[in-house]
Amino acid sequence: MQDFSPAMTQTYVDDIARKGPEQEGTDVTLKGWVYNYRPTGKLVFLQLRDGTGTIQVVISKKEVSPESWAAAEQFTQESAVIAEGVVRKDTRSPLGWELHAKTITLVHRAVDYPITPKDHGVAFLMDQRHLWLRSSRQWAALRVRHTIEKAIHDFFDDRGFIRLDTPIFTPNAAEGTSNLFEVDYFERKAYLTQSGQLYGEAGAMALGKIYTFGPTFRSEKSKTRRHLTEFWMVEPEVAFMDLAGDMELAESMVSFTVARCLETRKEELKLLERDTTKLEAATKTPYPRLHYKEAIERLAAAGNPAKYGDDIGGDEETILANQFDRPVIVHRYPAAIKAFYMKNDPAEPESALAMDMLAPEGYGEIIGGSQREDDLETLRKKIAAQGLPMENFEWYLDLRRYGSVPHAGFGLGIERTVAWICGLHHVRETIPFARLMDRVTP
Ligand code: 4AD
Ligand code: MG
Repeated sequence: MQDFSPAMTQTYVDDIARKGPEQEGTDVTLKGWVYNYRPTGKLVFLQLRDGTGTIQVVISKKEVSPESWAAAEQFTQESAVIAEGVVRKDTRSPLGWELHAKTITLVHRAVDYPITPKDHGVAFLMDQRHLWLRSSRQWAALRVRHTIEKAIHDFFDDRGFIRLDTPIFTPNAAEGTSNLFEVDYFERKAYLTQSGQLYGEAGAMALGKIYTFGPTFRSEKSKTRRHLTEFWMVEPEVAFMDLAGDMELAESMVSFTVARCLETRKEELKLLERDTTKLEAATKTPYPRLHYKEAIERLAAAGNPAKYGDDIGGDEETILANQFDRPVIVHRYPAAIKAFYMKNDPAEPESALAMDMLAPEGYGEIIGGSQREDDLETLRKKIAAQGLPMENFEWYLDLRRYGSVPHAGFGLGIERTVAWICGLHHVRETIPFARLMDRVTP
C-alpha cells in the first residue's frame, strides 16, 4: 500500500516551476494523472498532470524496476500515478524541467476515459463537465478565474472595504420581477437573490465601504453567450460616494484585476491563446466615458436603429466597445429604462445617475452601477410606480429615514469578466459547473 499520510513528501509541478537551478539532480515524488503518454519500446514519455501543472516524466526500461516498467505499460489516459525520480533540465518544455523516473506506481487504472484528444461537441463536453475540468483550457480558465477573484478581494481589502455576506433567500426583487426564481419558504414565498445590493446599502451605512461577493440568480429566458441563471457578482457600495466616484472605483478595480492577470497568469493566457496585447490597454486608466445620448448618436452614425429611450443591447454594446481600445463607461441612461433605486440626475431629471461598463472585443456589459436614490419620498414613489410591494421595502426605506446620505455602488459579473480576460466565447466555460436555462447538470 502506498502511504498517503501528510508526512509523506510530495512535490507539486508548481513547486518545480518556482524553484531555480538548485533543484537539478534532486529526488522528488510527484502524484497525479496521465495526461498523455508515448511508449517507444524501451522508453515511455509520460505527461503527468498533478493539478498544479504538467511535467514530462521519462521512464526508461533500463533504469526502473520490472514492477515500475509493468506499471508504465498499463498507462491509460487519466490513470492515477505516483512518479518518483530525479529532476533534470528540459529546455524544450515550457516548464524547463522534466523528471527521470526511478519508481512508478499505478494508483488507479482508468478504463475508457470518455474525453479523448479527438474533437467532441460542446453538448457532450458540458455533459462531461466533471471530467472536462481536467482538460488544459478548462484548467487554465479556472486558474485565471481564481486570480481574478483574488485580485478583487485584494483590491478592496487594500482600500479598507469590508466584505459583507448578503442573503440568498430574499423577500423581494432587487432587479425587476421578470426573472425571479421563486422558492417555497415554509408557508411563504421567497426568491433567490438577483443582487446583494439592497443589503449592501445597509452595510455601507454601517461600515462605510463594503463589498459583497457571492452567487446571484436570474431565471433568464435568454440563451446567449453572456447569460447564466446562476452567476457570481461582486458589489461594492460606498457611503458619501457619487456617480463620478463610482466610475473611478470601477475603472481602478478592473484595471487592477487585468494587470494582476497579465502579471501572474501568463502561461494560462498563452495556453488559452489569448491575445494579451488587447488586454494591455485595459490596465491603463481613465477609461473613456460616454453619455448615453452620445452613445445613441454613435450608434446612429454606425447605422444602428437604436433611438433615445432604448436600452443598449448586446449588438449595440459591441458596436460601441469596438470604437475603443479599452473598456468604455456609458452613463446617464434614461431613468425610464433603469431600476427603481437609481437617483435621477438633478441637472437632467430624465436621466438616471447610472453607468454600465462595456468590455472590448464584443464581451459586452461587465458592470452595472449607479448612485442610489437617497430621498425617502422620491424612493417611495419609484417603488410604487414599479408596482413593487411597499411593505417588503420598509427596512430599505429606513436607510433613507435615519441618516440618509448620497451613496453609490456597482455590480461586476465575474463570469463575463473571466470570459473577456480569457478570451472565451461563452460564459459556460468560465464557471466550474454552469447553470443555464437548459442545463442544471452535472
Ligand atoms: O446590471 P446588473 O443587473 O446590476 C445589478 O444587479 C446591480 N444591483 C448592481 C449594483 O449596482 N450593485 O448586473 C450587474 C452585472 C452585469 O453587468 C453583468 O456583468 C452581470 O452582473 N450579469 C450577469 N452575468 C451572467 N449572467 C447573467 N444572467 C447576468 N446578469 C447580470
Ligand atoms: Mg445591467
